[in-house]
Amino acid sequence: MTSPFVAILMGSDSDLPVMQATINILKQFEITHEVRVRSAHRTPDAAKAYVKDAEERGCKVFICAAGLAAHLAGAVAGMTTRPVIGVPVDNGPLQGHDALLSTVMMPGGIPVATVAIGKAGAKNAGYLAAQILGIADQKMADKVKAERVANAEALLAKDEAMQAKLG
Ligand code: RP5
Repeated sequence: MTSPFVAILMGSDSDLPVMQATINILKQFEITHEVRVRSAHRTPDAAKAYVKDAEERGCKVFICAAGLAAHLAGAVAGMTTRPVIGVPVDNGPLQGHDALLSTVMMPGGIPVATVAIGKAGAKNAGYLAAQILGIADQKMADKVKAERVANAEALLAKDEAMQAKLG
């Protein structure tokens, strides 16, 4: 018996401030998740062992974050056929442009669903994981839809407040 969960992997604990945005969204949707540091370069064997074990335990989606020459998402995508979401982390001198290209430019056959650089991308990684889980879980799909409606209403309320301020 396995229980479904989402695995967040990051290349370094220094990626956590960015990836906190993903964690927050998964918590908001009450998605069971694990957060681990595994590096494609520094701990390739441990990364592979984790992915295999996580798959066997019911991991449905892998979210992989790394900065600089960011190969973690691509390496993980080569180890599993579960969906892999890649978050390029903006922590180097190139402000994540390096990580973006390293994460997004996957060769055909090994996809990584790459989101935006940095915190906005980290946030979207959480939403995308919820949407993927929502395909087989109507309650999750409903939560995602309700969140969209709430966000739209909040934005329109901000517009009204701004109109009132502007006179
Ligand atoms: C990448 O190198 C990590 O994902 C991190 O973004 C970057 C720097 O790592 P640290 O030197 O801070 O451990 O592999």
